[in-house]
Amino acid sequence: KETKEQLIIDAGQKHFGATMCKSCGMIYTASSPEDELQHVQHHYRFLEGIKYTGWKKERVVAEFWDGKIVLVLPHDPSYALRKVEDVQELVDNELGFHQAVPRCPNKTKTFLFISDEKRVVGCLIAEPIKQAFRVLSEPTGPESPSSKECHRAWQCSDVPEPAVCGISRIWVFRLKRRKRIARRLVDTVRNCFMFGCFLKIDEIAFSDPTPDGKLFATKYCNT
Ligand code: ACO
Ligand code: ZN
Repeated sequence: KETKEQLIIDAGQKHFGATMCKSCGMIYTASSPEDELQHVQHHYRFLEGIKYTGWKKERVVAEFWDGKIVLVLPHDPSYALRKVEDVQELVDNELGFHQAVPRCPNKTKTFLFISDEKRVVGCLIAEPIKQAFRVLSEPTGPESPSSKECHRAWQCSDVPEPAVCGISRIWVFRLKRRKRIARRLVDTVRNCFMFGCFLKIDEIAFSDPTPDGKLFATKYCNT
């Protein structure tokens, strides 16, 4: 570890430490050639992946001052399904999920938040479910296991509760976070998932939440 730091100092680089790219949002070490190469590779693939050219037939389910939400269904034209696949791949990469197989591919509903810059800056994948297990609040105190070490091992109740809609993925582009995009995506799902009714909070469930996902879900469910 020391030798690596030493090398960077010796190289006399101006860009020391972590940098965040202002267009793709990747965090990398500008002084490291490997990191820079990785960034360049990620940069173009990512920006290409989130590019939204506009579709002949698009199902706009919500409109906002800064963008709109488009719903993609399993039997939509292939250009729409391809975009969903590309975005899901980027999201899974970022989340470190490696099994991209949805449980029920022909019932999956994908909601894309399209920004005014014509980019997919948010994605939510929802599927019908019948039951869910409530996440129990974490034990706090000196003896509680570190949530960093096992960051997905939340304690769940073993009593199933009825639910309607499972959110298997929710993601917002790093540079667009904390602008209520995730909140608007979930509101829209509750409104559109089942025709003619607005789902109650406890009819939706987040599957396998990450720490970010859990912070968001906790906040969303309490307000
Ligand atoms: N830390 C603390 N509170 C948070 C965070 C956070 N990282 N993210 C959201 N919240 C809370 C805040 O209270 C926020 O309101 P505020 O900004 O007024 O304080 C409220 O939730 C609403 O947040 P949004 O702005 O709607 O959330 P955002 O658009 O930033 O998206 C998301 C949240 C999707 C979790 C985003 O951080 C993300 O994409 N993270 C990486 C991917 C990921 O981990 N996704 C969840 C995977 S789990 C699953 O897919 C089922
Ligand atoms: Zn970049």
